Amino acid sequence: MSLHGQTKGTKLAPISERLAKGEACGTMMYYALARLAKEQGMEDVSKTFIEAANQEAVHAGFYATLNAMYPQDFWTLVRGLMAAEYHGDTAIKEMAGKFRAAGLSEAADEMEIFAKQEGHHGEMLEGLLKKYKPEALDVSGKTIYVCGCCGFEYIGDLDAEPDSFVCPVCGQPKKVFKKKA
Ligand SMILES: [Fe+2]
Ligand SMILES: [Fe+2]
Repeated sequence: MSLHGQTKGTKLAPISERLAKGEACGTMMYYALARLAKEQGMEDVSKTFIEAANQEAVHAGFYATLNAMYPQDFWTLVRGLMAAEYHGDTAIKEMAGKFRAAGLSEAADEMEIFAKQEGHHGEMLEGLLKKYKPEALDVSGKTIYVCGCCGFEYIGDLDAEPDSFVCPVCGQPKKVFKKKA
Protein backbone atom coordinates (compact mmCIF):
# COMPACT_ATOMS: atom_id res chain seq x y z
CA MET A 1 0.00 0.00 0.00
CA SER A 2 1.23 3.48 -0.84
CA LEU A 3 2.05 5.90 1.95
CA HIS A 4 1.10 8.72 -0.38
CA GLY A 5 -1.16 11.21 1.36
CA GLN A 6 -1.79 9.10 4.48
CA THR A 7 -1.45 12.13 6.75
CA LYS A 8 -2.73 14.77 4.32
CA GLY A 9 -5.76 16.63 5.63
CA THR A 10 -5.60 14.81 8.98
CA LYS A 11 -4.49 16.09 12.37
CA LEU A 12 -1.13 14.46 11.67
CA ALA A 13 -0.49 16.69 8.64
CA PRO A 14 1.26 19.48 10.59
CA ILE A 15 3.53 16.87 12.18
CA SER A 16 4.51 15.43 8.79
CA GLU A 17 5.07 18.94 7.46
CA ARG A 18 7.29 19.93 10.36
CA LEU A 19 9.28 16.72 10.12
CA ALA A 20 9.70 17.03 6.33
CA LYS A 21 11.04 20.57 6.66
CA GLY A 22 13.23 19.71 9.63
CA GLU A 23 14.80 16.73 7.86
CA ALA A 24 15.37 18.79 4.69
CA CYS A 25 17.13 21.40 6.84
CA GLY A 26 19.17 18.68 8.49
CA THR A 27 20.28 17.42 5.08
CA MET A 28 21.63 20.86 4.21
CA MET A 29 23.33 21.25 7.58
CA TYR A 30 25.08 17.86 7.49
CA TYR A 31 26.37 18.43 3.95
CA ALA A 32 27.71 21.83 5.03
CA LEU A 33 29.40 20.25 8.05
CA ALA A 34 30.79 17.46 5.84
CA ARG A 35 32.41 20.09 3.65
CA LEU A 36 33.87 21.91 6.66
CA ALA A 37 35.21 18.66 8.13
CA LYS A 38 36.81 17.81 4.78
CA GLU A 39 38.43 21.25 4.58
CA GLN A 40 39.87 20.60 8.02
CA GLY A 41 41.32 17.26 6.90
CA MET A 42 38.89 15.03 8.84
CA GLU A 43 37.76 12.61 6.15
CA ASP A 44 36.14 10.20 8.63
CA VAL A 45 34.08 12.98 10.19
CA SER A 46 33.07 14.18 6.74
CA LYS A 47 31.96 10.67 5.72
CA THR A 48 29.89 10.28 8.87
CA PHE A 49 28.14 13.61 8.23
CA ILE A 50 27.44 12.57 4.63
CA GLU A 51 25.91 9.29 5.82
CA ALA A 52 23.67 11.21 8.20
CA ALA A 53 22.80 13.74 5.48
CA ASN A 54 21.73 11.03 3.05
CA GLN A 55 19.51 9.42 5.67
CA GLU A 56 17.96 12.79 6.60
CA ALA A 57 17.19 13.30 2.90
CA VAL A 58 15.41 9.92 2.80
CA HIS A 59 13.43 10.92 5.89
CA ALA A 60 12.43 14.26 4.34
CA GLY A 61 11.10 12.44 1.27
CA PHE A 62 9.20 10.02 3.49
CA TYR A 63 7.29 12.73 5.37
CA ALA A 64 6.70 14.67 2.14
CA THR A 65 5.10 11.52 0.70
CA LEU A 66 2.86 11.03 3.75
CA ASN A 67 1.58 14.58 3.24
CA ALA A 68 1.27 14.15 -0.56
CA MET A 69 3.48 17.17 -1.19
CA TYR A 70 4.07 15.81 -4.70
CA PRO A 71 1.58 14.03 -6.98
CA GLN A 72 1.53 10.25 -7.11
CA ASP A 73 1.38 10.49 -10.89
CA PHE A 74 4.56 12.55 -11.11
CA TRP A 75 5.29 12.71 -14.84
CA THR A 76 3.88 16.18 -15.47
CA LEU A 77 5.94 17.37 -12.51
CA VAL A 78 9.02 15.65 -13.97
CA ARG A 79 8.44 17.43 -17.30
CA GLY A 80 8.46 20.75 -15.42
CA LEU A 81 11.52 19.73 -13.39
CA MET A 82 13.38 18.94 -16.60
CA ALA A 83 12.85 22.57 -17.65
CA ALA A 84 14.05 23.83 -14.26
CA GLU A 85 17.20 21.68 -14.43
CA TYR A 86 18.07 22.89 -17.93
CA HIS A 87 17.40 26.45 -16.78
CA GLY A 88 19.63 25.82 -13.75
CA ASP A 89 22.55 25.01 -16.03
CA THR A 90 22.45 28.51 -17.58
CA ALA A 91 21.39 30.34 -14.42
CA ILE A 92 24.07 28.85 -12.15
CA LYS A 93 26.76 29.48 -14.77
CA GLU A 94 25.67 33.11 -14.88
CA MET A 95 25.76 33.39 -11.08
CA ALA A 96 29.19 31.74 -11.04
CA GLY A 97 30.32 34.62 -13.24
CA LYS A 98 29.13 37.09 -10.61
CA PHE A 99 30.98 35.21 -7.88
CA ARG A 100 34.11 35.17 -10.03
CA ALA A 101 33.84 38.91 -10.69
CA ALA A 102 33.65 39.39 -6.91
CA GLY A 103 36.95 37.54 -6.51
CA LEU A 104 35.49 34.20 -5.36
CA SER A 105 37.17 32.15 -8.07
CA GLU A 106 37.34 28.91 -6.04
CA ALA A 107 33.60 29.01 -5.36
CA ALA A 108 32.93 29.97 -8.98
CA ASP A 109 34.93 26.96 -10.25
CA GLU A 110 32.75 24.63 -8.21
CA MET A 111 29.54 26.39 -9.22
CA GLU A 112 30.45 25.86 -12.86
CA ILE A 113 30.65 22.12 -12.15
CA PHE A 114 27.28 22.30 -10.42
CA ALA A 115 25.83 24.12 -13.43
CA LYS A 116 26.88 21.22 -15.67
CA GLN A 117 25.36 18.78 -13.19
CA GLU A 118 22.04 20.64 -13.40
CA GLY A 119 22.17 20.29 -17.16
CA HIS A 120 22.89 16.59 -16.71
CA HIS A 121 19.86 16.26 -14.40
CA GLY A 122 17.81 17.78 -17.21
CA GLU A 123 19.16 15.18 -19.65
CA MET A 124 18.51 12.34 -17.21
CA LEU A 125 14.91 13.45 -16.70
CA GLU A 126 14.43 13.86 -20.43
CA GLY A 127 15.73 10.32 -20.91
CA LEU A 128 13.27 8.95 -18.35
CA LEU A 129 10.40 10.85 -19.92
CA LYS A 130 11.24 9.47 -23.36
CA LYS A 131 11.36 5.95 -21.93
CA TYR A 132 8.26 5.99 -19.74
CA LYS A 133 6.03 8.90 -20.70
CA PRO A 134 6.90 10.36 -24.12
CA GLU A 135 3.47 12.00 -24.35
CA ALA A 136 4.40 14.19 -21.36
CA LEU A 137 7.07 15.81 -23.55
CA ASP A 138 4.46 16.84 -26.09
CA VAL A 139 3.19 20.13 -24.71
CA SER A 140 1.62 21.43 -27.92
CA GLY A 141 -1.71 23.06 -27.18
CA LYS A 142 -1.10 23.02 -23.42
CA THR A 143 -0.77 26.12 -21.27
CA ILE A 144 2.64 26.43 -19.63
CA TYR A 145 3.58 28.77 -16.80
CA VAL A 146 7.26 29.39 -16.05
CA CYS A 147 8.58 30.11 -12.56
CA GLY A 148 10.42 33.43 -12.75
CA CYS A 149 12.83 32.24 -10.11
CA CYS A 150 13.96 28.73 -11.11
CA GLY A 151 12.48 28.02 -14.55
CA PHE A 152 10.16 25.25 -13.37
CA GLU A 153 7.37 24.78 -15.89
CA TYR A 154 3.84 24.27 -14.61
CA ILE A 155 1.66 22.60 -17.23
CA GLY A 156 -2.09 23.07 -16.91
CA ASP A 157 -4.44 25.50 -15.21
CA LEU A 158 -2.40 27.39 -12.62
CA ASP A 159 -5.45 29.54 -11.78
CA ALA A 160 -7.15 26.39 -10.46
CA GLU A 161 -4.40 25.96 -7.85
CA PRO A 162 -5.06 27.35 -4.36
CA ASP A 163 -3.47 30.69 -3.37
CA SER A 164 -1.14 28.71 -1.11
CA PHE A 165 0.46 27.07 -4.18
CA VAL A 166 4.23 27.42 -4.28
CA CYS A 167 6.82 26.36 -6.86
CA PRO A 168 7.75 22.75 -6.01
CA VAL A 169 11.40 23.47 -6.82
CA CYS A 170 12.15 26.85 -5.27
CA GLY A 171 9.14 27.56 -3.04
CA GLN A 172 8.22 30.89 -4.66
CA PRO A 173 4.52 31.88 -4.67
CA LYS A 174 2.11 31.66 -7.61
CA LYS A 175 2.59 35.31 -8.55
CA VAL A 176 6.18 34.77 -9.80
CA PHE A 177 4.84 32.46 -12.57
CA LYS A 178 4.44 33.92 -16.06
CA LYS A 179 2.61 32.36 -18.99
CA LYS A 180 5.13 30.95 -21.46
CA ALA A 181 4.96 32.74 -24.80
FE1 LIG B 1 19.48 19.46 -10.32
FE1 LIG C 1 10.63 27.98 -8.94
